[in-house]
Amino acid sequence: MFDYGMFKFSSKEEVFEKSERYWNPGKTRFWRDAGIDLVIDRREGYELFDMDGRRLIDLHINGGTFNLGHRNPEIVDALKTALDHFDIGNHWFPSMARAALAEALVKVSPGFDYAFFSPGGEAVDVAIKSARYTTKRRKIVSIVKGYHGHSGLSVATGDAPFSKIFLSDRSDEFLQGQFNDREAMQQALSLRDVAAVIIETIPATNGFPMLDHGYNRAVKELCQRYGALYIADEVQTGLLRTGQMWGW
Ligand SMILES: Cc1ncc(COP(=O)(O)O)c(C=O)c1O
Repeated sequence: MFDYGMFKFSSKEEVFEKSERYWNPGKTRFWRDAGIDLVIDRREGYELFDMDGRRLIDLHINGGTFNLGHRNPEIVDALKTALDHFDIGNHWFPSMARAALAEALVKVSPGFDYAFFSPGGEAVDVAIKSARYTTKRRKIVSIVKGYHGHSGLSVATGDAPFSKIFLSDRSDEFLQGQFNDREAMQQALSLRDVAAVIIETIPATNGFPMLDHGYNRAVKELCQRYGALYIADEVQTGLLRTGQMWGW
């Protein structure tokens, strides 16, 4: 019996049945058909234990989400302490926790004046909206096989299969160029109608290909020359994941 108080399961098979019935039939079947019958149970440090008691080393770390380890005691402590005093709050009003976190982030982010809190794909939406608002231009340039999320605007910057199934492909507003092609980038930006270029500092979802030395800097300089903004998507490279606070 797996008894976690608010929910109980008698077996891994029962989890598969309920996942298929109530959560996501396609994804549940996909992994089983591929011979990976994994349901993760306990998580600790860099280790996972599946419901069969198998111990696994987590090299995937969910794209950087668990780079401080699973249930890191310092983080668990901070979360518990926070809940002793605060809840999610009310976004209309200033708050002590928000002001303190924003100050800490701005102080470790050279050139930044403000911090705004948002999850991955939605942070990309905020960046695109900010760029459009600032430049009064509509076009956004991204890189083929880059990944920025599946929220409203971010999905339009990504791979065609996804932007198409959500009817978000708008080739007049969202343009794509190849990694490392400086000439194509120059051509796209030289018309001076691009609001921003969005780029992963290290392209993660595409299998971590390394960019040519100086490519990001060259794109940033082209942005400056033609009045576009440079959006560094640091979802995978920020917060010390490259060994420095920010990859850019
Ligand atoms: C580089 C990059 N940007 C954006 C996102 C979107 O983040 P989220 O899935 O939290 O919306 C991801 C998620 O994997 C990502 O890897």
